[in-house]
Amino acid sequence: MMKEIKDLTPAEAEAELEYLANELAKADSAYYQNDDPYLTDADYDRLKHRNFDIEARFPQLIRSDSPSKRVGAVVKSGFSKVPHTFPMLSLGDVFSMEEVADFVVSVKRFLNTSENIAFMSEPKIDGLSFSARYEKGIFVKGATRGDGTTGEDITENLKTIRQLPLKLPAGVPDILEVRGEVYMAKADFFALNQKYEAEGKKTFANPRNAAAGSLRQLDPKITAERNLSIFAYTWGEVSQRMWESQADFFNHLRDWGFPINPNNTLCHNLEEIERSFAHLMEIRASLPYDIDGVVYKVNSIALQERLGFLTRTPRWAIAHKFPAEQALTTINNIRI
Ligand code: IVH
Repeated sequence: MMKEIKDLTPAEAEAELEYLANELAKADSAYYQNDDPYLTDADYDRLKHRNFDIEARFPQLIRSDSPSKRVGAVVKSGFSKVPHTFPMLSLGDVFSMEEVADFVVSVKRFLNTSENIAFMSEPKIDGLSFSARYEKGIFVKGATRGDGTTGEDITENLKTIRQLPLKLPAGVPDILEVRGEVYMAKADFFALNQKYEAEGKKTFANPRNAAAGSLRQLDPKITAERNLSIFAYTWGEVSQRMWESQADFFNHLRDWGFPINPNNTLCHNLEEIERSFAHLMEIRASLPYDIDGVVYKVNSIALQERLGFLTRTPRWAIAHKFPAEQALTTINNIRI
């Protein structure tokens, strides 16, 4: 049984922070470098929160290698590096509707308003983020998130994904970075694993890892053989922002030929947010791809700009994580 944080002595806290730093570093490397996780997402989140809570209680014990200081993974050797002029951030996580309500209150308080604020509710796709750079409408560079500041050059790999437009219609900004998620649909994941199993090869733990393993191939021919898909949902550097809201941005993305998630929903108040969350929870298992939560973003870009950022996360968006997916298995027979 883990000790409650309030009962920890400083020496115990220090020892546990050391343990958590090591454990999470191992998990990160298994997940990001080898695309082969050894902790479940729920266990990983639990350790990360434990680490965060101990640090909140003992800030003088925060380690220089603390897992709370990392945005993502280090760059895998072999790919050339791509600096992100506009960092690829992550999102703060919450796990309950109460915390979502607190988030909405904090947004309103920050903006000093009592009026309802509109939020875009978007399924949180469980894949890996990409950034696609277009110059004068031509796709020129693809990158992974990497550590958020520097990513890996996956230009050739991204080009193999048929859903990614390589040439945009006239009228797009001269410089435009479209960002989103690369994922593998559940059906494609099962087919791939089945094939690998038949060939006696090591199978992938889940669609996310299959997507990561497929995308980060030094040989893009291998990427091309895998069925990868994308959803676009945000932007990086742009020479001229011609949209005023997240909803407006989605309309542009659609016109330019990017796949947008059909379940993105504009919510005008907390009740609509709750309804959208409940709906996504309900359809989660029947969606053709994995989602691990819902992202809420302040719809207005002007308000997003007023809200700004915390150290590594925007103050205008949050991820509402689902509990780990449960499945029922029937054992038909046991043979000794
Ligand atoms: S927005 C500044 N929207 O979740 C906001 N992220 O922890 C940047 N993700 O790294 C992210 N679906 O890989 C955003 N609809 C969505 C998303 C989404 C999945 C992932 C993304 C990001 C992570 C945030």
